[in-house]
Amino acid sequence: MATQAPIIPASPSFKTDLAPIGIFDSGVGGLSVYLHLKQQLPDEQYLYYADTLNVPYGPRPSAEIKELTLIAVDWLVAAGCKLIVIACNSASAHALQVARQKYPTIPIVGLVPALKPAVLNSSSKSVAVLATKATLDGELLNAVISDYALPAQVNVVKWFDPSLVPWVEAGMPTQSETPERLKAQLKIFAQQKVDHLVLGCTHYPFFREFVMTQIAAENLGIKVVDSGAAIAARVKTLLQQSQSLVIPKQQIDMTEGGLYVGHSTQSLEEFSLAHSKLAFFVSDPKADLAEVSRLVNQLIYR
Ligand code: DGL
Repeated sequence: MATQAPIIPASPSFKTDLAPIGIFDSGVGGLSVYLHLKQQLPDEQYLYYADTLNVPYGPRPSAEIKELTLIAVDWLVAAGCKLIVIACNSASAHALQVARQKYPTIPIVGLVPALKPAVLNSSSKSVAVLATKATLDGELLNAVISDYALPAQVNVVKWFDPSLVPWVEAGMPTQSETPERLKAQLKIFAQQKVDHLVLGCTHYPFFREFVMTQIAAENLGIKVVDSGAAIAARVKTLLQQSQSLVIPKQQIDMTEGGLYVGHSTQSLEEFSLAHSKLAFFVSDPKADLAEVSRLVNQLIYR
């Protein structure tokens, strides 16, 4: 579910329709949102800033998350993005408002775990949110609890495991205790009569299939929800309203390659978005770009 962004006409100095959509996450998690964006807005180009130098954000204090998020948003604004998606629940929880205050003329869309639809559809009156500590403690999620869960008398089970984000960043190796812990936790949710599990971190949809397989195998009767599709729909609406969708005749020939991977420290003049559907930049200057490219490809072409 998208948090409402102000609808403001884009700056006339931008060639807005041809400008990229900016995506930001602490790491590769925002790619789960990118997959929905690509599906709903296939003609757009995407510029992604992954703060791999500082991932994970989940255990960090609020002030630090704000500071890191503003650095990322500054970078995407300087790169000329027409709209920015903070594709990170943890960053949205602590820095969405401050980013919008800093850039009032650029639409900035943030994420909040899809708790509202889970609450509205729960028959057992018990739902679980799996998210980072920063998201679980943040105001956005807690406002949804006060506004929707409490009045409907739905119990919200909050749960976090700090190893989940690093596990996804490592490409979800099978030889890890993390998936075993997750399996055990699903059974605990079932004992707590949970009938909806909200994946409240953008890294988590990458193990959605694993979760669904366990739920089916154990007959746990839990539905799994996330906010990716709703965010993409919100972005589409905003771009339609500001008339800044790419129009097909302006489409650039991107047959030469879909993915560009780079360091965020490099000058943006060194590359052209012209032939990249997705340009993925990492903040860690020591990151091995071949490794980054392998991981991004693993996640987006599964
Ligand atoms: N993808 C981020 C989120 O949605 C991950 C947070 C982290 O870096 O811990 O919250």
